Amino acid sequence: MAINFDAQSRIFHLATAHTSYVIGLNEGSQALHLYWGAHLSDPDVWAILAPRQMHASFEVESCIKAFEYPCHGTGDYRTPAARVLNADGNSVTCLTYAGHEIYSGKKPLDGLPAVYCREDSDAETLELRLKDELTGLEVVLNYSVFEEMDVICRSARYENHGDKSLRLLTGAAASVDFFGKDYDFLHLQGAWARERVPERLPVTHGLYSIESRRGASGHQHNPFVALMSKNADEFNGDVYGFSFIYSGSFAATVEGTAYACTRVTIGLNPYSFNWELKPGESFQTPEAAMVYSDKGLNLMSQRYHTLYRTHLCRGKYALAERPILINNWEATYFGFNEEKIVEIARAGKEMGLELFVLDDGWFGKRDTDNCSLGDWVVDKKKLPNGLDHLAKRINELGMKFGLWFEPEMVSPDSDLYRAHPDWCIHVPGRARTQARQQLILDLSRADVCDYIIEAVSSVLRSAPISYVKWDMNRNMTEIGSALLDSEHQGEVEHRYMLGLYRVLETITQSFPDVLFESCSGGGGRFDAGLLYYMPQTWTSDDTDAIERLKIQYSTSMVYPISAIGSHVSAVPNHQTGRTTPMQTRCDVAMSGNFGFELDLSKLSEDDMATAKKAVELCKRIRGTVQQGEFTRLLSPYEGSMTAWQFVRGDAVILCYFKVLNVPAEPLRRIKMKGLDPDAHYRAEDGTVYSGGALMNMGYPADWRMRDFESRVILLEKV
Ligand code: DGJ
Repeated sequence: MAINFDAQSRIFHLATAHTSYVIGLNEGSQALHLYWGAHLSDPDVWAILAPRQMHASFEVESCIKAFEYPCHGTGDYRTPAARVLNADGNSVTCLTYAGHEIYSGKKPLDGLPAVYCREDSDAETLELRLKDELTGLEVVLNYSVFEEMDVICRSARYENHGDKSLRLLTGAAASVDFFGKDYDFLHLQGAWARERVPERLPVTHGLYSIESRRGASGHQHNPFVALMSKNADEFNGDVYGFSFIYSGSFAATVEGTAYACTRVTIGLNPYSFNWELKPGESFQTPEAAMVYSDKGLNLMSQRYHTLYRTHLCRGKYALAERPILINNWEATYFGFNEEKIVEIARAGKEMGLELFVLDDGWFGKRDTDNCSLGDWVVDKKKLPNGLDHLAKRINELGMKFGLWFEPEMVSPDSDLYRAHPDWCIHVPGRARTQARQQLILDLSRADVCDYIIEAVSSVLRSAPISYVKWDMNRNMTEIGSALLDSEHQGEVEHRYMLGLYRVLETITQSFPDVLFESCSGGGGRFDAGLLYYMPQTWTSDDTDAIERLKIQYSTSMVYPISAIGSHVSAVPNHQTGRTTPMQTRCDVAMSGNFGFELDLSKLSEDDMATAKKAVELCKRIRGTVQQGEFTRLLSPYEGSMTAWQFVRGDAVILCYFKVLNVPAEPLRRIKMKGLDPDAHYRAEDGTVYSGGALMNMGYPADWRMRDFESRVILLEKV
């Protein structure tokens, strides 16, 4: 059993194969957090934890208690998980135990993306019901324990059982109090084309907030934080990961307190959240997936990868090998016609590519980015024979056809905007700030969502379209909705996300054979929420191979390789101006979902031959790359060499990349991980290595490598 309750000590033990999470009820029936870490036996939990760490009554200062779901107003001055404005104007909440239920499996979260069970036996769930006796608010804390995968998913459901409206001012999925303050935390910061740079900081006295206020998870911060012991690194030490399964504004806070305690909270961003909960209504927060690793960051990442690949991504592509594609964006931008597209596709076919993706510019009068979003009607100037005809020509070449959309947006210069100027997010009387000369459709409105569903679906019905790139290129400003009254404007951002999730659910379920990829100016919405609907994401608009080493390395901190879209582009690179060898561009790109994004008809013979070989290799190894176990070996943020490996069954792939050579650098050996120490592994050149030697001595990296060169070594267990 993954969840046990001891009625005598009133302790819940949530156990996975290698971890334990313990909650206790004190005499005042408050739910206190007792432990999270390496696995303990039930008797140890009942006997050791109970008497020592339970503060018995309300009289003990709340500011030193470790609460399971801390509330505002009764003496805990740290960041609350629950802050609720009561009908009489105060925001005091006091939650005490009101019952619990334990069942096998996990219920879906209504209207929200969430980790799911393939079989009920995958998880066991605890619903811990807490109640505020004065107001009638009940908060149900959900804990789904995935025993085999060593993951606990947490969320909260607020129910108003009183007779007056309440206002939720927070929507935390999880809050965990840690004893001690001797920790660092790691988060992923960035910018457009420089997404997800790991930043490690010490926990200090005070509050650090990693957050988005943009109405999207954003390029700047990812909805993820890991608390780490001071000695933790990629392979050692304690790491506690929190990944929020949501695509909108979020906050993850890390707070070091006066009494040497650390609190981590993750959930909806309270900054702009204000939700009315009428009597009889309930509100479900999105969920957080929590992973403890006693072997550093890599093990945490591997646990997230398995969870998200197998129990978050859905549909026929979740576990399938992904097609190798050619996208025309960096090849043509807006300047293409049918013949140019077919010319690129034909060159792609010669190289063995499987899917052609027509990017932005195929609709309305879209010769630049200043118009036509919302008018999803083919531009007959560029494609006089229509999409169906073009898609069929691509199909006749032996390739599938994919299409770009940006369905959440509207250009002021569009028929849609002229017909429905109030369909965008806006505040009456205020200027509508434009970004990339566009506005955001108000997906908090059902009619707008219905329009998007029909507009996208009718295009998908009109031609043999096998893939959709779902882009989103700006963040929210002047947040307001024409349909909500003044009391409910604070709900727009979250209602937008609920609308978006409904749109995505409807479209992806209606077109189960289509592979959907999300995108947001590159990786501006690379989050677990969208992976529930679309199993892969365009990782970054930065296609430079050397920059991509960093971006892909740190994206893998949370997200599986099968989610990471990666393309070979032209040199000099359009974002950095850097020139790198074709081989390296291929090796970096095939470490994710492989694709090309350049005018293939202009490739030199040499580059064409190199790319063709890479495509052949990718077809052999992509199962291992996309669905195998991924390990980061050498960091692109340290030293001159980056390395990673993939393992599936007997197949092992080692990739290493030289960034800049260093004079008189010692010979480099790359210590591999997770191999069988007693087995032997044969490389393609016939050399046989023992697993023990590869892990302890390391693989002898080629010392002749020049700047920007790479190697892919295939090994097989013999
Ligand atoms: C942003 C995306 O990240 C690019 O790949 C491309 O699709 C453009 N949008 C098109 O406008």
